[in-house]
Amino acid sequence: MNEKEYPAACKLAGLTPDELRNTIVQKEKLSPTLTRMEIRAPLIARAARAGQFVMVWVGEKSERVPLTICDWDVDKGTITIIFQEVGFSTKELGQLEEGEDIASIAGPLGKPTEIDNFGTAVVVGGGVGTAIAYPIAKSLKKANNKLIVVVGAREKSLILLEDEMRKIADELIITTDDGSYGRKGLVTDALSELLESQKVDMVFAAGPLPMMKAVAMTTQPYGVKTIVSLDPIMIDGTGMCGGCRVTVGGKTMFTCVDGPDFDAHQVDWDELRARKAYYFDEENKANANALVDGARK
Ligand SMILES: Cc1cc2nc3c(=O)[nH]c(=O)nc-3n(C[C@H](O)[C@H](O)[C@H](O)COP(=O)(O)OP(=O)(O)OC[C@H]3O[C@@H](n4cnc5c(N)ncnc54)[C@H](O)[C@@H]3O)c2cc1C
Ligand code: FES
Repeated sequence: MNEKEYPAACKLAGLTPDELRNTIVQKEKLSPTLTRMEIRAPLIARAARAGQFVMVWVGEKSERVPLTICDWDVDKGTITIIFQEVGFSTKELGQLEEGEDIASIAGPLGKPTEIDNFGTAVVVGGGVGTAIAYPIAKSLKKANNKLIVVVGAREKSLILLEDEMRKIADELIITTDDGSYGRKGLVTDALSELLESQKVDMVFAAGPLPMMKAVAMTTQPYGVKTIVSLDPIMIDGTGMCGGCRVTVGGKTMFTCVDGPDFDAHQVDWDELRARKAYYFDEENKANANALVDGARK
């Protein structure tokens, strides 16, 4: 980065051009498709709040990928992301190693999650959605809620952040669809039992769209406030492109600036599912052209 490209705001913040490089400080493979990365991003670490995300450009010509800020350390000047390699861009990100730089990271973006002392809060994380649920669970605990966490995945190797969740939760329930770990069944089975056996004051859920919809349907008859973190297609992440449009309570909202958290009982789930499938053909073509052994095919 030359002097001309050195943003004035960073000069004011006392950071050198070198400190502005988004260097990968630590990389850990959590499973064949899940990776945790700690990345130097001191300005984002200073401003981050639970529920917010960053837009990551792996290289200068890459597309932007929205990823939740799973954790941050102001003293070290780092943020942590956990991502699943599902298509071209996340595979491209997964190829980077410790010591390498990410071309650009913008954030923190989105509204922070509304944290309060609700009483008993249940946080539900499904698959990689647990990375989104974790900072929210941490903040709810800090706000003195009784914290019950339900973490679910298809099978054992896809369970995320178990140790971290165990440290903060008053109760942790693990479920797997195939019964390879924890309780056999869906996160909503465990949630139904909790709703039947005690007073739950709020539920927060992050995970695949069908899971979040199922959580909404589970809590609705009990009238329990339920917040979901939505993940529609995002392009700019700043409210300008309209790509992340969702209908909530009959109103059009942009997930990147009005969310990503919304009232689960008000989301138009069918419209969201249709919009997420909009670019399937293009995604499949890009994926077919994905990286093989570190190089583009
Ligand atoms: C606010 C927000 C936070 C997110 N946080 C995380 C996270 O912490 N960890 C994680 O693993 N994933 C997260 N995601 C999802 C992640 O952005 C997508 O998996 C990623 O963009 C896929 O890109 P790709 O090119 O690898 O795959 P593609 O082949 O392009 O797509 C695979 C699937 O990913 C989804 N997707 C593709 N592009 C986007 C996009 N630009 N925005 C949203 N979804 C997209 C679509 O459902 C698509 O079918 C988040 C998404 C949003 C909107
Ligand atoms: S991502 Fe473009 S408006 Fe939200």
